[in-house]
Amino acid sequence: CGIVGYIGHREAYPIVIKGLQRLEYRGYDSAGVMTYDGTDITVCKTKGKVADLKAKADQGNNAGSIGIGHTRWATHGVPNDVNSHPHVSNSGNLVIIHNGIIENYAPLKEELMKRGYTFQSDTDTEVLVNLIEEIQKNEKIKLGKAVQLALNQVVGAYAIAVFDTKKPDEIVAARLGSPLAIGVGEGEYFIASDASPFIEYTSNAVYLEDGEVAIIKRDKPLKIRKINTDAPVDTYIQELQMNLEQIEKGGYDHFMLKEIYEQPSVIKDTYRGRLNSAQGIIKMSGIEDNLEKFLNANRIIIIACGTSWHAGLVAEYIFEEFARINVEVEYASEFRYRNPIINSNDVVIAISQSGETADTMAAIKLAKEAGAFVFGVCNVVGSSISRESHAGAYTHAGPEIGVASTKAFTTQITVLTMIALRLAKAKGTLSHSDFHRYLLELELIPEKVKEALETNDIAEEIAATFKDVANCLYLGRGYNFPVALEGALKLKEISYIHAEGYPAAEMKHGPIALIDEHMPVIVVAPIQGHYDKIVSNIQEIKSRSGRIIAIVTKGDTEVRKLADYVIEIPETSDALSPLITTIPLQLLSYHIAVLRGCNVDQPRNLAKSVTVE
Ligand code: G6P
Repeated sequence: CGIVGYIGHREAYPIVIKGLQRLEYRGYDSAGVMTYDGTDITVCKTKGKVADLKAKADQGNNAGSIGIGHTRWATHGVPNDVNSHPHVSNSGNLVIIHNGIIENYAPLKEELMKRGYTFQSDTDTEVLVNLIEEIQKNEKIKLGKAVQLALNQVVGAYAIAVFDTKKPDEIVAARLGSPLAIGVGEGEYFIASDASPFIEYTSNAVYLEDGEVAIIKRDKPLKIRKINTDAPVDTYIQELQMNLEQIEKGGYDHFMLKEIYEQPSVIKDTYRGRLNSAQGIIKMSGIEDNLEKFLNANRIIIIACGTSWHAGLVAEYIFEEFARINVEVEYASEFRYRNPIINSNDVVIAISQSGETADTMAAIKLAKEAGAFVFGVCNVVGSSISRESHAGAYTHAGPEIGVASTKAFTTQITVLTMIALRLAKAKGTLSHSDFHRYLLELELIPEKVKEALETNDIAEEIAATFKDVANCLYLGRGYNFPVALEGALKLKEISYIHAEGYPAAEMKHGPIALIDEHMPVIVVAPIQGHYDKIVSNIQEIKSRSGRIIAIVTKGDTEVRKLADYVIEIPETSDALSPLITTIPLQLLSYHIAVLRGCNVDQPRNLAKSVTVE
């Protein structure tokens, strides 16, 4: 998902296409471009790669010194030619490209339809461009102002660029929550999601801040204003020091680290428009439309692989606690070959980041044949699993490029928690006050994840001490038992250190035999949950000279007395704690792998999406 734009004196088309190629690393499923030759606009778009777009657009008219282009990573509407950007308004005058999500697009669309607007795509973006047109029509104002007024009505996140054939010397760009950089040249400007598309033309860039709009005219100084107050903002032109690769990774050394740090914002993206604590609402259309199926289900069977399976295990605890529904969690590969007992009273939830995992796909088909209702929780819109499922809810983690899954995991837990809460509300299995408390707490999670990311330095320090160990044990109880499994998986995946996750109390039935002064044991021990029990487990490790690294709640005193190292995280409720406790474990694995010189983003033998069984 990326945007590119050019306004100046050169041919825009080659710059835009090359720019889109530079943004390919961000992941996308379709692409499009618009050019303006002084009289007409030409829009070309296609599902597939930028190379496919180029092949198509090369055939047509692509002349002109104004152009905008887009790579789309679907959030509303499957990837296809029509849903690709740019989108053109009903009059044919306004053209838009957009990254992000417009939460309230449905009521806005309804209102516009009442006023006679028609829509070709399923996107939220086409709603926005027509909203701008409607405002322009009624208020007879400049493009920039119309964009501002439209954005004031919008709830969501965006980086946009808008072009108006009636104002052919200007592009209006704005951002809230999605990045947008403007490259400043001599009588020319470049617009892009990051500086990589224009770094070869200019090293002067302006980064728009959230809530700002830029009026970009060739040969004129840039004008930036606050979207809502219209107050002018000083233009701060920065000299770029980064090279291409550094820019792609957002200044981080690896995609994995970038994705770990994206978690506060993508968790928010995932509940955006679905959760409203003030009104006590949780709404996901896939659940609303099928509420009866869930309420009448005998049990829920969760099917997944890898990290997604761990998210399923967390969900098992949450569903049973909140909604009092019997849940079983299965490895897709085991389920499909076991001749499972399954029927039309079962609801199957399939969890998959990629939506392409072969074992999960086969398990879904089997469940469908047996008459079960299948609900998909995928990150990739329009993926095979999302299509094969009867209904579903997307996580909005954005493309995950690092092979080791991080932000997909926490956004999966976010979606599953919301489902559990919705069912609990319908069933009355949570008290009114508990339901509200969880909604409020979920809204606080992004800030707390941000705080948990501050453990990066201590994680790096601990990593330096333990980087050469041969084995590692991860322990947790209750909601944090799956977190221990996920912590161990992260470590083995990227650092090649053998690691095992275990329920802390089960340690005495086996792994305790492994404990000596060489064995690091990572214990997830937040204050909520089975704290006293886990303190006893830590004592058992201590008395066998194990080296203890404990993840504890800020202000903890008990565990601190026993552990060799403590990593402090903010407090949240027991059920939501996996969203926080996971963070330092991701960072710890990351730093150990880096210090061992491993290929963090592409570990040996592993694939991001496993389409073979
Ligand atoms: C691969 C990836 C893991 C992922 C698993 C399931 O093994 O390396 O990170 O958890 O597949 O993938 P899915 O896309 O179905 O979540």
